[in-house]
Amino acid sequence: MLKLSHISKTFNPGTVNEKVAIRDLSLHLEKGDFATIIGSNGAGKSTMFNAICGDFLTDSGSIVLDGEDITFMPQHARAKNIGRLYQDPMRGTAPGMTILENLALAAGKGGWLSRISKSDKQRFREQLALLDIGLEDRMNHPVGLLSGGQRQALTLLMATMNPPKLLLLDEHTAALDPGTAEKVLNLTKRIVEEHHLTCLMITHNMQSALELGNRILMMDSGDIVLDIKEEEKKGLTVEGLLDKFKVGAGKKLDNDRILLSNEK
Ligand SMILES: Nc1ncnc2c1ncn2[C@@H]1O[C@H](COP(=O)(O)OP(=O)(O)OP(=O)(O)O)[C@@H](O)[C@H]1O
Ligand SMILES: [Mg+2]
Repeated sequence: MLKLSHISKTFNPGTVNEKVAIRDLSLHLEKGDFATIIGSNGAGKSTMFNAICGDFLTDSGSIVLDGEDITFMPQHARAKNIGRLYQDPMRGTAPGMTILENLALAAGKGGWLSRISKSDKQRFREQLALLDIGLEDRMNHPVGLLSGGQRQALTLLMATMNPPKLLLLDEHTAALDPGTAEKVLNLTKRIVEEHHLTCLMITHNMQSALELGNRILMMDSGDIVLDIKEEEKKGLTVEGLLDKFKVGAGKKLDNDRILLSNEK
């Protein structure tokens, strides 16, 4: 479904600020793969997502999504097939618009209430009810009034309303309190399974990296240093995972947000 072949990206080449952020990175994701990604600060995790989304063109290599070469495709065109969530719950929704208007936008209705039929509204209500956080009774409330967790759950619903070919989650529960983070993670799991989505999820939470998905990718210094597949992932503990990282990267996992406990 996603094939990154030997992609590289150096920022500010030839200057004192030169930074090789992605180094000859290759990755092949099968349709329905759900890979969690761990790595030290500055390993290039978010930059890899930026490259996939077309925030910039890579210096070399190719990117193929569902058989289509998107290496030189502009960002807005890629966005049609890629759903993305960030750490910041304030991104991804329009705060001044109501929940209903935001959902209408996500459904491709242009956010115009006049274009929302009764059946659309009913469908939105049902989908909101599935989130199980009471939003179905607040459809006319502005999104800006929601809590971070509620907003992130809504963003997830919006990003997957028309199931994307690829869902990219960049530490999307990191800014939430542990209880809310767990809810959003469970929701993530359910939505990915329900739509059989192909998904990459960056996390600093080792337990989540182990619990979710069928693959774990470890990144360091701009490359994927280890790719742990389904069978190997089963039965792996947090300690085992950290040991593997140490072997793969040649150093300890160093991330200022790293979470090792069972808490989300
Ligand atoms: N637009 C940019 N210009 C210059 N340098 C950049 C740019 N984007 C990223 N970098 C650098 O590339 C490296 C990789 O950054 P990236 O944000 O991908 O790390 P990360 O793995 O997501 O880290 P974290 O866990 O802290 O989020 C860092 O050294 C960063 O400073
Ligand atoms: Mg990052």
